[in-house]
Amino acid sequence: MPGSTPELPIVVLDALLPTTQRVVVNRRGSTVWEVESHRGRYAVKLGHPIEATAEWSAQPWTALAPAREGAVLHRLGVDDIAYGEWEHGTWNIQPWHQGPDLHKLWEPCRKQKASIKPDADVTLGCVQALADLHVRGWAHGDVQPAHFIIGPERTHLIDLALARGGPVPEAYDFPFRGCLVHYEALEIARSVLDTGEAEPTQEADVYALGASLLISATGWRAVEYPDDAPRPVQREAVANGRRRPVKAPGKLGELIDAMLSHAPEDRPTIYEVGKALI
Ligand SMILES: Nc1ncnc2c1ncn2[C@@H]1O[C@H](COP(=O)(O)OP(=O)(O)O)[C@@H](O)[C@H]1O
Ligand SMILES: [Mg+2]
Repeated sequence: MPGSTPELPIVVLDALLPTTQRVVVNRRGSTVWEVESHRGRYAVKLGHPIEATAEWSAQPWTALAPAREGAVLHRLGVDDIAYGEWEHGTWNIQPWHQGPDLHKLWEPCRKQKASIKPDADVTLGCVQALADLHVRGWAHGDVQPAHFIIGPERTHLIDLALARGGPVPEAYDFPFRGCLVHYEALEIARSVLDTGEAEPTQEADVYALGASLLISATGWRAVEYPDDAPRPVQREAVANGRRRPVKAPGKLGELIDAMLSHAPEDRPTIYEVGKALI
């Protein structure tokens, strides 16, 4: 249904009885609402399949992503989760986390580069959020600046649709085919190029966090490739490790360099990253 915004499915309306609702994003494959109800404030995610066009092939997995994420959140013990199916795919309901994301929050660092430095507490909050997942044996698979919501009490790492670490219902599962290329570790890019699939790992998450911090603090991607290059060309540049000579200020810059190491075993663990920041 290109161009049109779907309605909230009846089952979601029945579950939440919204007092207000607002579409947050509506893009290929996914629509997200912020919904307020007497029960509290929730994010509602609706997945639909991406049809094939001249530019991209069909991606039926986007229809399954919300239910897969719901199952992951459930396994992680997050309260107040619901998920199910609608006409064109699946949906989930999850608690709404208030706050700017990492990229938005660090906009002043990118605009007035020398005078405003990335905040160490914010960095630590992102590290803590990822460490909370890793310590339970999970890898996120889609770490990017928009997925860190910096709340007043703590930072939340959202969008667990691609996470790996425990069983999810087979009906809602699908292979991992990479993430946003800017945040993709070398070994993930190589595997996606060679086989069309890859395995999310904690090491690749650390790389992605390094790339997220770098882009949010400086506005520069970790790897050099033309903006308009086709996806496989971008992946080839990532897989070949064409690191751009750009650094975040101070100690953070050194740490990010280590997180972006070519070999996964050379990257610090998320706990080591945390220790280095304190
Ligand atoms: N639980 C949540 N709390 C606050 N905002 C959310 C939440 N879940 C999603 N969002 C918002 O919706 C956007 C898209 O959600 P995301 O989970 O990344 O789904 P997808 O990438 O599949 O579209 C996020 O970048 C964020 O702005
Ligand atoms: Mg997302």
